[in-house]
Amino acid sequence: MKRKVIATLMAMTMALGMMSVAASASETEGTDGEPLVIGFSQVGAESDWRTANTESMKSTFSEENGYELIFDDAQQKQENQLTAIRNFIQQEVDYILLAPVTETGWDTVLQEAKDAGIPVIIVDRMVDVSDDSLYTTWIGTDSLLEGRKAAEWLNAYATAKGIAPEDLHIVDIQGTIGSTAQIGRTQGLEEGVEKYGWDLLAQQSGEFTQAKGQEVMESMLKQYDNINVVYCENDNEAFGAIDAIEAAGKTVGTDIANGEILVISFDTTNAGLTDVLNGKIACDVECNPLHGPRAEALIKALEAGEEVEKLNYVDEEIFAYDDTVTTVTAVNSLEEEGEYAVTPITQEIIDGRAY
Ligand code: AHR
Repeated sequence: MKRKVIATLMAMTMALGMMSVAASASETEGTDGEPLVIGFSQVGAESDWRTANTESMKSTFSEENGYELIFDDAQQKQENQLTAIRNFIQQEVDYILLAPVTETGWDTVLQEAKDAGIPVIIVDRMVDVSDDSLYTTWIGTDSLLEGRKAAEWLNAYATAKGIAPEDLHIVDIQGTIGSTAQIGRTQGLEEGVEKYGWDLLAQQSGEFTQAKGQEVMESMLKQYDNINVVYCENDNEAFGAIDAIEAAGKTVGTDIANGEILVISFDTTNAGLTDVLNGKIACDVECNPLHGPRAEALIKALEAGEEVEKLNYVDEEIFAYDDTVTTVTAVNSLEEEGEYAVTPITQEIIDGRAY
């Protein structure tokens, strides 16, 4: 089995978009002609998004594409991910792909991978490490930007409907606490609360699952009788929250003035966008899970001795039930301001999407 050392990571010069994903299988062979061995530590199977992500990784790093994939499902537990990474090191894999459950707690194990000369590619969420040479590169989404897009959409929507900021009574069903997706999306909402003066009633984790989203929403509905906005940090939490709202005899929708509860979500999975189409989710901010080909492009570039960007952000869209808001302006994690289109959803759009 091939072992290679990526000694030093220098200033990155190559944009991900320039990388070719279409190389032949033979280009993925190691120096000894064997398939490249990839160890992938996946968070778990907590959401539709995660299922799509796993599928993207498995179909990309397949035998027929010239890889041997060792896949490990950590069941949302960091300790399982640490064990998986140590197993990958023992097995002398060529690359480690890590989708980290939370941001912190990786320094020691990533140092072990570095000492073993195995490049680590972080996928989806980020790691917060003292020395960023502990991983080679990262590919994922800008969760803070996602949160800010959602907050700006809510402000524009409420303004257009003549709803005063203090009349927005919001609950936040957060993702897994300490994960990048939770940190960014929660921050985006909290900035909106600070900036516009909304009434944020409660925040609690729904752990990115439908069951927990439902449980948290049930309890919030018992505590507060004036909730009119539910900010769900992923689609599966939104499905659970909608079930809880309907079971309590209330209606989800965009007509806050007439007592409907407006749901905002993230991911834009097929089922999530279907709920946008039928008016149950008002706005869904994309978090694209199809990282397999992107991770492969990075590996091919590294195999070719090229430099890669340290941080590779994916472009994402915003979908809404109606066209009340057509664009939002938001600042991304690199502090660049951008204007983002809001697309009213159609069945045709849903049918044309890959997840
Ligand atoms: O890290 C991405 C998030 O994790 C997605 O929003 C969520 O659905 C998943 O579980």
